[in-house]
Amino acid sequence: MKVKIEKRQNETKINPRLHGQFIEFLGNAINDGIWVGKESKIPNINGMRLDVINALKEIEPPIIRWPGGVFADHYNWQDGVGEKRKKVFNEGFGTYSVETNEFGTDEFLEFASLIHSEPWINVNLLTGSAREMTEWMEYINRKQSTYLSKKRKDSGHEKPYDVNYWGIGNEVWGGGGMMTPEQYVADYRKYATAAPTFALNQFSEDSRYFILSGADANKPKERRYWTKSVMKELARARPPKVDGYDLHWYNWYLGNEFSASATDFNANDWYQVIKGATELEDILKEQYDLIQDGLDQLPEPEGEFDQKLEKIDLILGEWGNWYGRAFFEEKALYQQNTMRDAITTAIVLDILHSNADKVKMASMAQTINVLNALILTNGEQFVLTPVYDIFKMYKVHRNNDVLDVTITDENSDHVKFFASINDKTIYLNVINFDLTETISVDIDLPGLVLQYQKEELAANDMHETNTFEDPNQLRAAIVE
Ligand code: AHR
Repeated sequence: MKVKIEKRQNETKINPRLHGQFIEFLGNAINDGIWVGKESKIPNINGMRLDVINALKEIEPPIIRWPGGVFADHYNWQDGVGEKRKKVFNEGFGTYSVETNEFGTDEFLEFASLIHSEPWINVNLLTGSAREMTEWMEYINRKQSTYLSKKRKDSGHEKPYDVNYWGIGNEVWGGGGMMTPEQYVADYRKYATAAPTFALNQFSEDSRYFILSGADANKPKERRYWTKSVMKELARARPPKVDGYDLHWYNWYLGNEFSASATDFNANDWYQVIKGATELEDILKEQYDLIQDGLDQLPEPEGEFDQKLEKIDLILGEWGNWYGRAFFEEKALYQQNTMRDAITTAIVLDILHSNADKVKMASMAQTINVLNALILTNGEQFVLTPVYDIFKMYKVHRNNDVLDVTITDENSDHVKFFASINDKTIYLNVINFDLTETISVDIDLPGLVLQYQKEELAANDMHETNTFEDPNQLRAAIVE
């Protein structure tokens, strides 16, 4: 095969935030996955497992979303701060267990800082209130001495956390309220306007970033209707502050909803799931265009002091492979990952990279023990899935410029390329998912090659995976 790598006409920088993560009170994502308690014999920092912290520190997820997902809409932040934590029952996606709330706001924010991540907090729009949200924001970010900032100080955190990213509602078309776009935008307007600004004076810059709950990308008709209608509702009156639009997309193996397995599959299943991942690109383009069309319909401000809402970033706030059998796991949505998931993860990240001019942030669902996980745990046991290796290998692309890669001779549907450049170093990804053929590639580069290195993640069998018993069967390694 021959490929040509060239500079892209329109400069496109890869936002590191495309490599974000997502953790939720769901199954063992947090309990056992992160939180083991200070008294645990599992080595921990203030109750959070050290093996997980060290592994995540290496990939430095630029962003981490919490406390959900569906759980966010049942979460009362007051249950998880201070000395006395409230036990509640968690029904989220088959979790069905008591949530102790020992891992609360301060613990999450400590965790985010330990893994060098910026927090994105999703507020409760369904069972909470605008007041609850503002009080949570006050607890987290208020600098001046108030009742709530003192409460934070009493919990050992005098300095405000300065959390920037706030999600207002989660999947409001489903578990977040079964709302119509009209209902949701009405609520969104209220919450976004009620939120404190933390400004120092009337004219200081507003660094808060508000994320609106976007469409269900898996429903073609509904998602187009949702995005168009949300934009139309925003245009009906002065728009509130909106910075991001949070689309959710899962790679289901449709037609096999409940029987699809993460580990027990044949060649047809292999190719179908991989094909599913490639479909994301058109969805992102479609949603980006709908947002731009919607922005054009916003009313022109009439007052001299009014500002126009000029842009809304497209965000992919949840993504990953989701096999039907995960619904029946004892620990909700627990899923093993194989070479197939490593490949789809690489494909999705490359789609995000290539469309970095359109998508500004993403968070994979979910980091530990749930769906497309990077890490699996079970008490003292711990293993890094091959998906972890993809994120680790792909770190080199952060902040780089996207390059154009053109296949110049025979075209194979089973090979994908992506390249980026940083100063004079080119980083090229080659994903060969053909089950039988190896490939050799002739690369036409813009310039001379003085040095090169090749890192590889390869399997002898499509089912290969890492288990607690055999944790390094599938590991990326420098091979040349
Ligand atoms: O990631 C699992 C669940 O999927 C989330 O809680 C929800 O937002 C989505 O439907």
